[in-house]
Amino acid sequence: MAETRCEVSPKLSKSRPNLYARIRGSVRKGLVGSRAKELELLKEASVELALQALEARDKVIARHSARAADLATRLAQRLELDDGNVALMRMAAMLHDLGMIGVRDDILHKPGPLDEDEWEIMRRHPDIGADLIAWHPALAAATPHVRHHHERWDGSGYPAGLRGDVIPMGARIVAVAEAFDTVTNRGIYRADPFSAVDAIRDISERSGSWYDPSVVGALRALDL
Ligand SMILES: [Fe+2]
Repeated sequence: MAETRCEVSPKLSKSRPNLYARIRGSVRKGLVGSRAKELELLKEASVELALQALEARDKVIARHSARAADLATRLAQRLELDDGNVALMRMAAMLHDLGMIGVRDDILHKPGPLDEDEWEIMRRHPDIGADLIAWHPALAAATPHVRHHHERWDGSGYPAGLRGDVIPMGARIVAVAEAFDTVTNRGIYRADPFSAVDAIRDISERSGSWYDPSVVGALRALDL
């Protein structure tokens, strides 16, 4: 009989060894410790579970989400958000494309450009992801940031056409972080990635139209 092997975990999971060590250690100890630490650990494990579910569906999107979360964290720090909000921005970036789980394979993995009907389905992924986490006590705080990560500063985005600083801060940060990661990595969107310099130039050209100028300013100030 063929051996059953879990396909989830390679690079993505190895990128966060500290989390795994802490989870293993806490489980060994029967999760003894302060209630606050237990809740924090359960939150991190919940995010990890969601990301592994996404990874099982599409490794490229899961790895994009993990990288975008690292950049979103740096952007949030550069914008001088407090520690709690930096952690929230990181979680929102980790989960921003979770809703891709609900997009059909023939659309999610289509090699060529999507037609308008397919785009209409693809554009549901922010709502699908937001609805998936909205009920979860440890993840719900990221819901508005996930739901609105494809809004644009000038109101031309989706799903709600929000404009300016009505768009939740995490959504504005994720929009820039995911754009940078998408254009600088070879993946389903680009066969020929941009350099960091070209990516920053490209994103800067959309500052004030697609992206929050303050977040673009933070991006330009990072050493990338
Ligand atoms: Fe997205």
